[in-house]
Amino acid sequence: MTILVTGGAGFIGSNFVLDWLVGGDEPVVNLDKLTYASNLNNLACLQGDPRHHFVAGDIGDSALVASVLRKHRVRAVLNFAAESHVDRSIAGPAAFIETNVVGTFRLLEAVRAYWSDLDEGERAVFRFLHVSTDEVYGSLPPYAPAFDEQHRYEPNSPYSASKASSDHLVRAWHHTYGLPVLTTNCSNNYGPFHFPEKLIPLVIHNALAGKPLPVYGDGRQVRDWLYVLDHCSAIRRVLEAGKPGETYNVGGWNEMANIDVVHTLCAILDELRPRPDGAPYAAQISFVKDRPGHDRRYAIDAGKIERELGWRPVETFETGIRKTVAWYLAHQDWVREVTSGAYRDWVAQQYAGGRPGI
Ligand code: NAD
Ligand code: DAU
Repeated sequence: MTILVTGGAGFIGSNFVLDWLVGGDEPVVNLDKLTYASNLNNLACLQGDPRHHFVAGDIGDSALVASVLRKHRVRAVLNFAAESHVDRSIAGPAAFIETNVVGTFRLLEAVRAYWSDLDEGERAVFRFLHVSTDEVYGSLPPYAPAFDEQHRYEPNSPYSASKASSDHLVRAWHHTYGLPVLTTNCSNNYGPFHFPEKLIPLVIHNALAGKPLPVYGDGRQVRDWLYVLDHCSAIRRVLEAGKPGETYNVGGWNEMANIDVVHTLCAILDELRPRPDGAPYAAQISFVKDRPGHDRRYAIDAGKIERELGWRPVETFETGIRKTVAWYLAHQDWVREVTSGAYRDWVAQQYAGGRPGI
């Protein structure tokens, strides 16, 4: 038995691959296009490990996907591969449509062809698990109940619209062709290997570099935060026991305003790595122009996955964020490696004159 993980050199995918192989010996084929967001060094400890087989390639390359599926007799596909950064989707949506929509379509078609040729027993246990986001549900008013799986889709950014499209394709491939699919819609992840274009690693990186900590608008936008290894355990649980055709919300029961997240990071850094001048890191906070179309609030009702599959996150925000800051302090070489030339170009363009996303 082998699973195929797509996007397994990115943030969540590489955490998932590492965690999967700690928990068991079932091999992983890891198909990743190696975009700017990937880093094969995340998986350096698997070098020479026969349980991990890396393939450089695109989920939209039907011939490649077909040959990988056949060669490794894959019993489940977990689709993490995506363009994932909202600000980049505003600056340049084309890549999001190409990978998240067209790529997912091509992947589904290659998987459907492979699955159709399996014998009856193999077909029955085969799974296609699509990793998606809470952003497909749009933005919540302050006191509205959290998103449940019945909430209508109201995507507002090119990123969330592209993920919503992919969710619809996955759903249709189940209803029309009977492909045994599972979809997870998860809130904001944080933890090791998080690329420092996203809020939490960006703030840690900028704080240590003595740079401004850019907070969009008034900083009162609310997100639900989940430690990445809790997301990985939820995906494993859905793969193992989820009902084909169902969707499962995954979240941390942990809503926080961005400005409170930034203050929490500053306080932990003040304690673990005080500034040489003794001033608090919060002095570096800088309010900048808001993200266009910025969703005000996301909140996830993760009750279904708890009731039906018995999953709940292990980490609280307090424990998870401390581990995360400690990981970044201990892995400054990783940060230096990923914040090379292309990263600097993006940051310069994105934050020029305090104008994100334009
Ligand atoms: P990421 O940007 O860190 O990694 C994405 C990976 O996919 C990269 O390794 C990249 O090289 C690869 N990739 C991109 N296009 C590809 C293609 N065409 N073919 C093959 N590989 C390709 O993203 P992430 O934060 O790890 O997110 C993984 C998945 O989880 C995405 O589908 C994302 O929408 C979803 N998600 C992310 C979060 C979050 O907070 N980061 C929350 C919920 C859901
Ligand atoms: O909700 C799940 C989503 O979470 C995933 O689907 C996405 O792939 C992932 O990138 C993340 O999207 P967000 O847009 O919520 O994450 P980001 O880290 O970019 O921003 C978090 C919040 O912080 C958001 O309200 C925007 C704000 N922000 C972000 C950056 C980069 C700032 O205030 N300043 C910044 O510099």
